[in-house]
Amino acid sequence: MGRFPLGPWLQQLLSPWGLALAAALLLLVLSLRARRTRRPGEPPLLKGWLPYFGLALQLQRDPIGFMKTLQNQHGDIFTLLLGGKYITFILDPYQYHLVMKNQKLSFQMFTKNILKKAFSIQKLMTSDDLNEELHDCYKLLQGTSLDKLMENVTQNLQQVFEAQLFQTTHWDEAHLMTFCRSVIFEITFATIYGKSLAGDRKKFITDLKDDFFKFDAKFIYLLSDIPIELLGNTKSIQKNLIKHLASENLAKIQGWSEVVKMRQDILEKYYTVKDVEIGAHHLGFLWASVANTIPTMFWTIYYLLRHPEAMAVLRDEIDHLLQSTGQKEGSGFSIHITRKQLDNLVYLESVILEALRLCSFSSIIRFVQEDLTLPSETKDYLIRKGDLLAIFPPLMHYDPEIFEAPEEYRFDRFVENGKKKTNFFKRGKRLKYYVLPFGMGTSKCPGRFLALNEIKQLLVVLLTYFDLEIMDDKPVQLDYSRFLFGIQYPDSDVLFRYKVKS
Ligand code: HEM
Repeated sequence: MGRFPLGPWLQQLLSPWGLALAAALLLLVLSLRARRTRRPGEPPLLKGWLPYFGLALQLQRDPIGFMKTLQNQHGDIFTLLLGGKYITFILDPYQYHLVMKNQKLSFQMFTKNILKKAFSIQKLMTSDDLNEELHDCYKLLQGTSLDKLMENVTQNLQQVFEAQLFQTTHWDEAHLMTFCRSVIFEITFATIYGKSLAGDRKKFITDLKDDFFKFDAKFIYLLSDIPIELLGNTKSIQKNLIKHLASENLAKIQGWSEVVKMRQDILEKYYTVKDVEIGAHHLGFLWASVANTIPTMFWTIYYLLRHPEAMAVLRDEIDHLLQSTGQKEGSGFSIHITRKQLDNLVYLESVILEALRLCSFSSIIRFVQEDLTLPSETKDYLIRKGDLLAIFPPLMHYDPEIFEAPEEYRFDRFVENGKKKTNFFKRGKRLKYYVLPFGMGTSKCPGRFLALNEIKQLLVVLLTYFDLEIMDDKPVQLDYSRFLFGIQYPDSDVLFRYKVKS
């Protein structure tokens, strides 16, 4: 009584027309940002003709070709308007350090926003301590903790594939992306979070997986300025997932890894145990642990299927290891390979690196906290507070001076004289970094060792026990909709068939 009647207004605002109006106003406000002009001393500024979107569409259509054209016209440093953000790109690998060492740049400021938009994690916006403590957990993705995680991967692989090994040896067909999604999600979830104690385990993981991939399909829109309310049922899927991963439901899962235990302890210090935002943190971590591993697995297998010569060399390398360690194929699921042994499989590593080189479009992005001067070799550049600064490694991955015929898939590109090849050159100087799918510096992916080992273990199992053949002839292309964020997905799925080796 006597209060302003909010109800009807809220209903109006949340109606389709209200939301469309709100979106239009937002677009108007954001397009005002596009009126900026270049100031003396700033890098070349390229805004395109589309307000707000700027050059996003051209870049998304052909990221490498378009970036090369811009580089030829404007040099190695320029600022682009992309989806309402001004991003200054650094293209020369010898200038990457300018971004790494600058105190006025922040990775946290950039990720906090992403975590808020994508996963509804609010507390990191205000608590640096929570952020630091959570980062401390990442040490549990290395060393002896990594060995334990790898043991879990082996056991979970066994559970997923063992039943298949006793089936008759007929061909089964599957879509490769669907297969990779399913296998990586199940194995990674069981490895990191454990297994549900609920009566129907299969239903638990299938429901979680289905919701997760519906959410993931909207991920890139969540990062934009489009309010989540305008993204169909994304909000309710996100809510559902967060609830699934909240403390009371996680308590029904057995076999948490050390990293999950430590994260949960920290979260319970900063939230009440019932706070659903704890589930939002777990959703973020789960997303990080599978979203890039899945397409990496896809492309690695896809290229192998299309290159039988690569598949043959890899089978040989794996057979040789199994024989030299006294492990025979064909006697049930019994492979056990250590991290060191996996590390010595140079062709196995090379096929993964080659897939990452071709398909990783991860950029290393920092938020500019204060106006700063970027001292490049030829000239100093002024960069504005509030902008983003980005290293764009794909251009290095496709640089013909570094990689001969960079568009070609060469499975042994990272092997030389039977050893890992690590010497790649530009302008006659050896490069410190030449494939950068995992970021760099403070923000470097803490799960990279687990990701690579999990993919290696899965490939060893597939190649040891199964015959695999591609069935679709049409080449699959990269879909660039996630082009600044990680490994690109394929533009279509591809049919393949597999059977247990006779
Ligand atoms: C092939 C698979 C993977 C790729 C390509 C990948 C790539 C990346 C990249 C590019 C970043 C951001 C780095 C930056 O902005 O500088 C990142 C961050 C992160 N990744 Fe991965 N990742 C993979 C797998 C994993 C796995 C398996 C886990 C966990 C078990 C994981 C956990 C994380 C976490 C927690 C962060 C955030 C780190 C932070 O906030 O400082 N990633 N990853």
